[in-house]
Amino acid sequence: KRKIIIDCDPGHDDAIAILLAGANPYVELVAITTVAGNAEVEKTTVNALKVCELAGITHIPVAKGAGQPLLRVRQTAADIHGDSGMDGPTLPHPQKSEEQEHAVDLLIRKLMESDGDITLVPVAPLTNIALAMRKEPAILGKIQEIVIMGGGTFGNTTPAAEFNIYVDAEAAKIVFESGVPITMMGLDLTHQAIVTDEIHQRILDVDNNVSHFVHELLGFFAHTYKEVFGFAGAPIHDACCVAYCIDPTAFGTKKLRVDIETKGEHTYGMTVVDLLGVTGREPNVNVAFTLDQDKFWDMLIQTLKNYT
Ligand code: BDR
Ligand code: CA
Repeated sequence: KRKIIIDCDPGHDDAIAILLAGANPYVELVAITTVAGNAEVEKTTVNALKVCELAGITHIPVAKGAGQPLLRVRQTAADIHGDSGMDGPTLPHPQKSEEQEHAVDLLIRKLMESDGDITLVPVAPLTNIALAMRKEPAILGKIQEIVIMGGGTFGNTTPAAEFNIYVDAEAAKIVFESGVPITMMGLDLTHQAIVTDEIHQRILDVDNNVSHFVHELLGFFAHTYKEVFGFAGAPIHDACCVAYCIDPTAFGTKKLRVDIETKGEHTYGMTVVDLLGVTGREPNVNVAFTLDQDKFWDMLIQTLKNYT
């Protein structure tokens, strides 16, 4: 069982990532940390708690993290996720509240107490991870791998930049230059995980309270993806990272040099991927490019069936 901590900003696709981790036998969800991203951190934290309560994931800590990027003015994504960060489904206010401990301290503590067997799964701006690395550099030797949703060879927030990297590119730079093994699920990959009508129907056919919730999430998410990008369905970006932890054979990856742009006039927040090796620099990121769709959807739908 691979131990993971999901650092997230739920977020429709973040919620699905949590649900995939919560009932799959090949991963053990150790904790959830939250950060400002799709919405303010107070909102993303309540959303995470709501998802956990609905799914019965009540044995793990949920810790609230950074409410602001390191340097930049905060940006949210209400156009995609609604004002709450997870508009669409209505869930009751959660019974459980977040930990007293700050997410950054929880990350440091869990890593330092571990045998170096925890994988971090940030599916949101990288503020918490960068802060943890700066506060306690000894965690660098304790992180097994970081599987990031972010970046790609094109953008969705600017033509060059993907949302999670764009919101806090300085944090992303710290993480990408940390020397820790990184796998990157960028838009090249996650845009292959689009929920078609057929997949939506398979999810509905699972017919339990979690699959009904996913159905409601997808209704809202597909609508905004159509409005904003003209897509026929919504990509469930963040779930790809958890799927990679469960079964990396469903992904085709390449080790490449990736640098984060923090200065460009048109390119702030870009993940500059050295596809042809022209820099001659040592690759620092395992970049995912291809998805075995059958494996991916079977994994998700099988896992949803585990919620009874
Ligand atoms: C990423 O941005 C967020 O809106 C999604 O949850 C995902 O993590 C996609 O660019
Ligand atoms: Ca997210």
